[in-house]
Amino acid sequence: MNEDNWRIVNPDGKNRVIVTRDLPGERWVDILVAAGCRVEIFTGTAELSSDEIRHAMGSRCDAVIGQLVESWDDALFEGLKAAGGRAYSNYAVGFNNIDLAAATRCGIPVGNTPGVLTEATAELAVALTFAAARRIGEAERYLRAGKWDRWLPRLFLGTQLRGKTVGIIGAGRIGSAYARMMMEGHKADILYYSRHPKPALESFAAAYNRFLAMRQEPAVVCRYAKTIEGLLKETDCVSIHVPLGHGTRHLINAERLALMKPEGVLVNTSRGPVIDEAALVDHCRQHPEFRAGLDVYENEPELAPGLVELENVVLAPHIGSATRWAREGMATLAAFNVAAMLVGNPVWHRPDIDAFLKADPPPAAPSILNATELGLPLYGAME
Ligand code: NAP
Ligand code: GLV
Ligand code: GLV
Repeated sequence: MNEDNWRIVNPDGKNRVIVTRDLPGERWVDILVAAGCRVEIFTGTAELSSDEIRHAMGSRCDAVIGQLVESWDDALFEGLKAAGGRAYSNYAVGFNNIDLAAATRCGIPVGNTPGVLTEATAELAVALTFAAARRIGEAERYLRAGKWDRWLPRLFLGTQLRGKTVGIIGAGRIGSAYARMMMEGHKADILYYSRHPKPALESFAAAYNRFLAMRQEPAVVCRYAKTIEGLLKETDCVSIHVPLGHGTRHLINAERLALMKPEGVLVNTSRGPVIDEAALVDHCRQHPEFRAGLDVYENEPELAPGLVELENVVLAPHIGSATRWAREGMATLAAFNVAAMLVGNPVWHRPDIDAFLKADPPPAAPSILNATELGLPLYGAME
């Protein structure tokens, strides 16, 4: 492997940490150095293959910070274990690229980066919602092509979303943040489908309704949908926020698309395979009034045949969490995950991770997915 493609920080550090892609910000490097790490950062442009990652880990590697585009399967975790590895962190909240059972079998704690990217990703979902509903991509292409010659009463008529019904599929951190943005910002009624009802989201709606009542404005509705089918039929716009896994592959297929309103809007910032992309292409072709806003794709970076030719879709290249603040925060959390495991600190187990972004962070790993399975000590468990 080309040595020029690696940047090495703190060469004399006792714990060897491989980072398979350079990350934004500086704090994450400082965290690793403070934990006694020699940090080896891949700076090349090509993606590292599994073989190259195994080669980079070699016979001695204490931990890895890896990317969502890498497939962390049994072979890679066995390789990390054989190299003496004691921790892995994904630079992402989603972990469908990880065989968690394999990591647990190898005794390797696996971290992810929840919370810090919630608002950024929900904001991108809102941006795609309005870009799709108001036909921004199509209108910009028209303008850039020099086709615009006058103001016209019927030019690019779209859908107004204020006061409409918005469906959320997967009301976790990001889905709930998106719901709040649409409720509070745009007075949308919310119908959400998740494995469990969300009392916190419903109590937010109740509090917001007290404010609206004071202003003599109509209340918003926030209701749990018993079935996906019911949600798809009743909503004007649907935004997907489930993880990939737990039976969510092709959760949205041709039959379910057919339940949506012909002029509905579908937004996906979760993972591509949650939608049958070929079925979506067919649906968008057959229903020119239907709109989709996508950030994620079934076979990234490939797109399903026909998708780019469709005028009624708005496409972003998997940039949901791509604000500087969120991406630097993700790097901070990934570094703390690895550093804490290497120095023997416990695992944080509260939903709020803001403490890690401030001065005097807790001596803990912010998020370890297999902490329970590995019997790792929890922070403050003795309190
Ligand atoms: P989260 O808090 O875990 O939320 C996911 C929610 O989905 C959970 O609340 C869960 O339900 C629900 N869920 C799981 N399986 C389900 C099923 N079969 N049917 C219905 N609901 C189901 O995760 P998050 O932080 O919001 O992130 C969500 C996903 O967004 C990540 O997994 C990742 O793939 C994606 N993401 C993408 C980007 C991007 O750049 N586009 C950025 C960040 C995240 P209950 O709580 O009801 O049990
Ligand atoms: C991004 O897609 C993430 O899961 O963090
Ligand atoms: C539009 O630009 C308007 O003034 O109505």
